[in-house]
Amino acid sequence: MPTARRAKITALGTYVPSNVLTNQDLEKMVDTTDQWIQERTGIRERHIAAKGEAASDLAVGAVKSLLESHPFDLQEVDLIVVGTVTPDMMYPSTACLVQNKLGIKNTWGFDVSAGCSGFIFSLNVGVSFIESGACKKVLVIGSDVNSSMTDYTDRAVCIIFGDGAGAVLLEPAEEGEEGIIDHVAQVEGGGGQYLYMPGGGSLHPATHETVDQKMHYIHQDGQQVFKYAVKKMAEMTERVLAKNGKTGADVDCFIAHQANRRIISATADRLKMAPEKVVINIDRFGNTTAGTIPLAMNTAVQTGKLKKGDLLLLAAVGAGFTSGATLLRWAF
Ligand SMILES: CC(C)(COP(=O)(O)OP(=O)(O)OC[C@H]1O[C@@H](n2cnc3c(N)ncnc32)[C@H](O)[C@@H]1OP(=O)(O)O)[C@@H](O)C(=O)NCCC(=O)NCCS
Repeated sequence: MPTARRAKITALGTYVPSNVLTNQDLEKMVDTTDQWIQERTGIRERHIAAKGEAASDLAVGAVKSLLESHPFDLQEVDLIVVGTVTPDMMYPSTACLVQNKLGIKNTWGFDVSAGCSGFIFSLNVGVSFIESGACKKVLVIGSDVNSSMTDYTDRAVCIIFGDGAGAVLLEPAEEGEEGIIDHVAQVEGGGGQYLYMPGGGSLHPATHETVDQKMHYIHQDGQQVFKYAVKKMAEMTERVLAKNGKTGADVDCFIAHQANRRIISATADRLKMAPEKVVINIDRFGNTTAGTIPLAMNTAVQTGKLKKGDLLLLAAVGAGFTSGATLLRWAF
């Protein structure tokens, strides 16, 4: 019987807008301090999109950066999956806008809404299309313009979020190559009340009242999200490792969704992971939602923490609640 084909990541690109919002800038906007933000979150600065710069623009920027390091004919792309909760508009999907901007003629695609797990969930979807044999080249993109739904008078929220995007190319692995090994994923919708944007959907369509009541902004109960994230990040990483007969000691590089440095460190401690294996770039980018994992992959490659052949563990928890962890062998 033929063994099921595996998928692997063969290229990576990232994009962040050029505008930088520092903690010092925020000190002038809300009652906060650089020291508080750094101690409680690990963030120093974040990138913010320019007016008119939307999720599809960041996504296209990430694909163009991918093409610079790994030139190939974009017309070969079979499928575009975009993880985002800040699409350019309600519809058409960001995937359609990306397809059009890149001029890819014979492809299809769609968006995945999974909050901060958006990149991992999109990756799972892309992997399935490679494993089934339906696709040979899949672009998986995580792109979020969080500044578009951030209330810059709410100090508990505006300090956390930034804008950014990343893209990977998925292709079939060679015979015997491990590629993307396995994933676990879960949604627990009861947690939706702790992190959500209530306005603009079919429940609360936009009106003057929804704007006055700030319903088009991120609403967050930070402590509830924090507690859930610490518990669930550990649970999901342990689950995917145990499922594959591995422990934290086998992992060469750990990339967690960059929401709060304390959440990442708590998970790494639980897995008994040496700090040098843990990738942290939240200080420079803040929480870019679906952008964090590919942005952190890029940091890991550039700093030499992630090399060809390394066992890489990815993990994320996000609005929904959503959560997931993926185990893969880095292939380039
Ligand atoms: C939001 C978050 C940074 C707040 O940190 P925290 O340590 O939990 O802080 P608390 O909410 O307990 O607030 C502690 C105090 O700091 C204050 N505070 C909140 N934001 C502040 C800020 N930016 N600057 C200064 N003080 C602030 C609070 O008002 C509170 O003051 P009080 O004790 O007088 O009431 C933290 O809860 C967090 O990171 N949560 C997870 C968020 C997340 O990951 N979201 C994305 C999910 S993927």
